[in-house]
Amino acid sequence: MTRAPRTIALLGHPVAHSISPRFQQAALDALGIDARYEAWDTPPEQLAAHIERFRSGDLLGGNVTVPHKVAAMRYIDRPDAMVERVGALNTIVNRDGLLHATNTDVAGITGALREAGVEARGADVVLIGAGGAARAVVVAMRMAGAARLTIANRTAANGHALVEVGGPDLDMRYAPLDVQDATFRQAVSGARIVIQSTSVGMAHGPDESGTPVPAELFSPGQVAFDLVYVPEETPFLRAASAAGATTVGGLMMLIHQGAEAFRLWLGADPPIEVMVKAARQALAERG
Ligand code: ATR
Repeated sequence: MTRAPRTIALLGHPVAHSISPRFQQAALDALGIDARYEAWDTPPEQLAAHIERFRSGDLLGGNVTVPHKVAAMRYIDRPDAMVERVGALNTIVNRDGLLHATNTDVAGITGALREAGVEARGADVVLIGAGGAARAVVVAMRMAGAARLTIANRTAANGHALVEVGGPDLDMRYAPLDVQDATFRQAVSGARIVIQSTSVGMAHGPDESGTPVPAELFSPGQVAFDLVYVPEETPFLRAASAAGATTVGGLMMLIHQGAEAFRLWLGADPPIEVMVKAARQALAERG
């Protein structure tokens, strides 16, 4: 009797736009693994039932994305230390009916920087934004041994709340997200790495053509890292490029968080190049 293909599922709402099924399936196929990566649209009232399905023998596990990364925590048996640190999960692994969870966003951030040859140890870093993605950046910068992290955010209360998440080993402070503000200007000009985690500059977002940092504040020798990956070259990255700074795009973070999850479900090394190619193709087709 042939075994039914195993399944890995992505839970989100909406989820149809996600390119994870494309690059994960390409990786499975490239390695000849008989498994399907499916997107399951999951309105909040179906979250518990969909996670429950992960316990079945033919489910290897899955990914969890917006808006469920925090809510999913209550349905998990074994969240690891990374879930506790970030306060959110994005990966579930089914081990004999027991649901383990982790957060591979931190590995995605670290992997993207490593691949670009960027060293965060001892660095002065500016983080723009204070939402869910920003929390993973704070954890990644702490683990990488950054020296100082300035959080610049539109809403001061959210920025201050994230500063509280920092620890004694990382010097954290808040600056208003305002190009006219002297604290912000100095923080950005003096930073080695500037990481953009808001939806500003995202295609079809609230401020598609905007950049939180204009070219005049960047200089050569700096690194600009945007977590936004549609478009691949955001206005923020264009501004950095125009000033001669090094740029790192969000697609690499997406791929590396997916690659880390792939390793956990399958115990196999993911073919990164295949994933990048499939992701770019999916984005190009979507237009
Ligand atoms: P994610 O999980 O992707 O990080 P989120 O949790 O909704 O999304 O966080 C959104 C972040 O983008 C916040 O830092 C938000 O700023 P506020 O705290 O002021 O809301 C920021 N953001 C969203 N739209 C923005 C805009 N038009 N200008 C500046 N910041 C914006």
